[in-house]
Amino acid sequence: MASYLFLRVAVSFIFIVTYIFATDTSSFPKNFLLGTSSSAYQIEGAWNESDKGESIWDWWTHENPNFISDGSNGDVACDSFHKYKEDVKLLNDLKVDFYRFSISWSRILPTGYANVINQEGLNYYKNLIDELLANGIEPFVTLYHWDHPEIFERMGGWTNEMMVEWISDYARIVFKELSPKVKYFATLNEPNVLCEEGYETKIKAPGKNLGSPGVFLCMHNMLKAHAKIYHIYDEEFRKHRNGTIGIVLPCSGALPKYLNDTAAVDMHFQFKCGWIAHAIFSNTGDYPQIMKSHVAENSKLAGYPRSLLPELSSEWVQYIKGTSDFFGLNHYSTWLVETVPRTKEQEWYAYSGVKESRDPSWPKAASKWLNVVPSGFREIINKIAREYDNPPIYILENGFSDRCCTFDYLRISYLHSYIKAMLLAIYEDGCNVQAYSVWSLLDNFEWSAGYTERFGLIHVNFTDSNRKRTPKWSMDWYKDVIATRKLNFTWELPTIIHI
Ligand code: NOJ
Repeated sequence: MASYLFLRVAVSFIFIVTYIFATDTSSFPKNFLLGTSSSAYQIEGAWNESDKGESIWDWWTHENPNFISDGSNGDVACDSFHKYKEDVKLLNDLKVDFYRFSISWSRILPTGYANVINQEGLNYYKNLIDELLANGIEPFVTLYHWDHPEIFERMGGWTNEMMVEWISDYARIVFKELSPKVKYFATLNEPNVLCEEGYETKIKAPGKNLGSPGVFLCMHNMLKAHAKIYHIYDEEFRKHRNGTIGIVLPCSGALPKYLNDTAAVDMHFQFKCGWIAHAIFSNTGDYPQIMKSHVAENSKLAGYPRSLLPELSSEWVQYIKGTSDFFGLNHYSTWLVETVPRTKEQEWYAYSGVKESRDPSWPKAASKWLNVVPSGFREIINKIAREYDNPPIYILENGFSDRCCTFDYLRISYLHSYIKAMLLAIYEDGCNVQAYSVWSLLDNFEWSAGYTERFGLIHVNFTDSNRKRTPKWSMDWYKDVIATRKLNFTWELPTIIHI
């Protein structure tokens, strides 16, 4: 009997100790940062107020309303230019640690150049920052979220290497004015998407439609611009708040269509994420070797006298290497990938050798490119950690689109499953993720989809001149996650019939 009792006590003791010391994989690590994200053109409105200059998005939407699903534009958007105090109130209600927003270049520099500084434009951002700080929220400033001054586009935009200088002049002014109060900066948002959809094709502004040569050149100049902005901050302004600065890259997940086709997964990664990331985060720098040889070979086959991928000189390779304090990751969805032979019709595949598709069983969001695959999120975090020596990763966008409703349980379901996957990447795989941000605080102007696809935690009525904001269920859910620093219940993924 005595030995039985002893056994019971011993077993209970082991259970209690295990319970106390076991990692709780549903809680966020200590000091983990939670936030929400937005961008200037998508929310601010006031496109021609307070002496703001014209941006490529003002021009594009006014000239080409037929390229936007509902013919709309960001002239008023969420009217955050006038309603920023209300936005901060909502952020304060959520109790986020940080709020990521971007600066409109042409609002601060109406001529585009650094010769005229628009004080009223600058004040808008200064007021927003003060309001955030007064509410205990860290401002996270993106310098460039796709909306450069139209004047530069008339000179070739990102196909003109002078953009590196022009954007550096702008960045220096922003740093000088804002870095005393801002600790977190992002240089450029998603170069790939802008270059593919704005320069290679014409899905987004500036709609250049230049094919592969355009996308390679655009990426090349954006990479250089990023590095230059980083060095300016590092050398001249970091000391102000001992701040941190990095690039934001869109890396979708990739799962092999055919078991064991790891080559397709890696090739996909190097051609998408690695294109810019390798130059910045790898030990060797430069574009990924596999990309250099593949593009060179295919360019030759297509009859070009030289590779479409421009060369980075060894000076540039060294200058670019290491220019990001964190890996800013925007992630939404995942592809199935497979290796395919080169075909003439499919230019992109011709250069990467990888074809993307979706598994028909994956649940869908309103955006046709967005499928719900949380395992792909865990995979891509792991891939980044493995490729680049486990850098600090900030998830700066993750979110789900629908077409309506404040009872957005599908959004809650998506966010819950993605955060869960991220926490597993942290606890079980040892990845160094330090921040997470939902896209987006408000429903907003979703580029070529106009207002037809909603990503907000807060509903915005775009037919109401007051742009009434109404919190959705997901806002309450996220509020609870932030308050408890924990995913509090298991949320079954409902079958998505239609949205
Ligand atoms: C990434 C972009 O940075 C953001 O502007 C966009 O709204 C979201 N993806 C959703 O498409």
